[in-house]
Amino acid sequence: MDEQAILEGLKPVCLCKGIRKSVFLKHIAAGLTSVEALKKATGAGSGPCQGRRCTPRIEELLRSRDQG
Ligand code: FES
Repeated sequence: MDEQAILEGLKPVCLCKGIRKSVFLKHIAAGLTSVEALKKATGAGSGPCQGRRCTPRIEELLRSRDQG
């Protein structure tokens, strides 16, 4: 893994719960394909904003994976 990928993985996706991108990517690599499944696995979406901020980011992660 190069430095860029490591830095990228450190970016927070769910700010309320402090869950980083790498955590989501790991679950996606393990086969999770829906926003709901990822929320359940990571605890994202259960913070004070109730997923208002992180849901679009999770959707984006899934979309960019579909294209890649
Ligand atoms: S950012 Fe994920 S629950 Fe608020």
